[in-house]
Parts: sequence; structure tokens; C-alpha cells
Amino acid sequence: IVSVSKAMQNVFSLINKVAPTSSTVLIFGESGTGKELVARAIHYNSPRRDGPFVVVDCTSLPKDLMESELFGHKKGAFTGAIEDKKGLIEEANGGTLFLDEIGELPLELQGKLLRVLQTRELRPVGDQKTRQVDVRFIAATNRDLEEMVREGRFREDLYWRLNIFPVKVPPLRQRKEDIPVLVQHFIDKYSEDIGGGPYKLTTEAMKVLMAHNWPGNVRELENTIHRAMLLSSNGLITEKEIHLAGIDGQRKIPKTLEELKEAKRALKKLAEEELERAFVMQALEEAGWNVTRAAENVGMQRTNFHALMRKYGIKRKR
Ligand SMILES: Nc1ncnc2c1ncn2[C@@H]1O[C@H](COP(=O)(O)OP(=O)(O)O)[C@@H](O)[C@H]1O
Ligand SMILES: [Mg+2]
Repeated sequence: IVSVSKAMQNVFSLINKVAPTSSTVLIFGESGTGKELVARAIHYNSPRRDGPFVVVDCTSLPKDLMESELFGHKKGAFTGAIEDKKGLIEEANGGTLFLDEIGELPLELQGKLLRVLQTRELRPVGDQKTRQVDVRFIAATNRDLEEMVREGRFREDLYWRLNIFPVKVPPLRQRKEDIPVLVQHFIDKYSEDIGGGPYKLTTEAMKVLMAHNWPGNVRELENTIHRAMLLSSNGLITEKEIHLAGIDGQRKIPKTLEELKEAKRALKKLAEEELERAFVMQALEEAGWNVTRAAENVGMQRTNFHALMRKYGIKRKR
């Protein structure tokens, strides 16, 4: 996990605290912020590191097969069950099960998962007997699970079972000082494969990256750099090679009311954060980077103003 930001230091210290235990962990964060990397870091720094790390993507499992995928089945349990099959939970025995996008798990399976979390026992589809499992659970979501609980779409008891040790991975726009090190990391990652280096960004190109809001977070940055490297002819990456998805650019149009609501929420949040960040920057510039004065000028408590600086990864000296 490449990072120099304060915001991520906090995440690292949470990882270090929880990794040696068997505690369930719930990772919150927008898409592309590195939630899976965090889950892997916890597993590989835990006493279970030699056991399996099994990923379950709750969005990609077909609904009717989900129970048998997770819990396994006995031969003959349903048409097509031609032999006994271990579920993914049991595959993770002795290791860690990573439940990605847990918010997408259907209600019915939420109850069955809760039982496993409570008893560390599971019953494969069509089996009479339960089996003991020794699995560490890490779940991740980009949803507001509390809101889903209020709306009755996520079981409250499961929410509390999972939310023993929450880890929030901040969006890239709130830790922009990570951008340069991430850019270098992705240049190193793809240089050998693409060839034709050494790759270097112009100051202007870096400015463009620093000004962007990164709705797709680190994943979007990685794709942007990869693409720029492919487009660059002499290793130099200028603004011309940086292609960013704008609000009216490549952003995809929602297909359902649910998607529309989600997209509107995300847009609003983005616009508000952009304004807030600019507000803090302007106040600091105008006060010659004197935090106390900047806070005074805008009519804020110093501690609140400082909290805003932290939120956007703005350091004292520029
Ligand atoms: N801090 C980081 N350092 C290096 N690579 C990162 C970092 N954060 C994210 N990535 C990369 O970005 C991509 C998306 O990360 P991922 O963990 O899949 O995000 P999420 O699960 O939150 O959607 C992956 O290719 C991952 O390796
Ligand atoms: Mg993911």
C-alpha cells in the first residue's frame, strides 16, 4: 500500500492493531480506494498468513447459486449438484474470508451468514449436519450500511456483528499528497511491460492530476497513468496524454432509479467537497498560511478549521 498521507497513516495503524487478532473487520470506502489491499494487508500480517485468503465478490455471484457457493452443497441437493462441494467459507478454513460489497448480499443470506459469525458453524445446502469452521471474516462496502439498515435492506444484527472494528479508507481527493507517490508506483509497475521509458511527467501534467477530483479513486489514477504511458511516444507524459473522465465526459448514465439516486448523491458530495477544499485553500493563501488567522478570517474555530485541513490532506506549508 503506497501512501505518504496522514489520513492513510491512521488506516495503517488500525491495520497493525487488528491484524494480530482474529477480530472481524468492516472496511468502508468508495470504489477504488484500496479496500481489498487493506484486507490483504490484514491477512498477511496476521497469524493466519499461511492459510488461504478467499475473496467473495457479493455483486458477481448469481443469486440462485449464492448459497451453495458460500456454504457448499451435498451431492443431489438440487439439480446439477452431481457431487459434494465445499463452499467458499469452508475454503477459507484456517485463513481469511474477504466479503467484498457485503451490502449486496441478499437478506436471506444475511441471516445465514450471521449464524456462521455467531456459531462458527455452517450447514451446506442439503446436508443434515453442521460443520465447524475456523475463519476470520473481513467485509467491505462502499454503501452506507446504516442507511440500508434504516431502510430495512440490511439486517441490523448482522451490521453490529460485522462492525466490531471499522476501518474507513478515505477517498483519494481527501489525500491528494498521495498522488505523486502513487504515480511513481504505477510508472514502476507498468514500465517493464510497456518498455520505452524512462517515464516522467511534466509539471503541468502533475498539476492536472493534483487538480482532478478522482471519483474513481486510486483505480482511476492507475488507469489514467497506464493509458498515458501507452500514449506517450518518448517517455514524457504531458497534459495531452492525461485523459480524465469529467462530469459530462465518460461518466456513465444511470440505468435505474437506485443508480440515479446513488449517482446524484455522489455528485453532490463531490461538488461540496470541491468547494470546501477550495474554501480552505483560499483562506490559507489569503492568510499567508497562518492557520489561526485563516480560521479567524472565515469565522471558524481553529480546531474546526484544522479538522477541515486534515480532511483534505492539506499540510501547513506548501
Ligand atoms: N495505496 C495504494 N497503493 C498502491 N496501489 C493501490 C493503492 N490503493 C489502491 N491501489 C490499487 O488500485 C486498484 C483498486 O484497489 P482495490 O483494493 O481493488 O479497491 P477497492 O476494493 O476499494 O475497490 C488496485 O489495482 C490496487 O492495487
Ligand atoms: Mg474492490
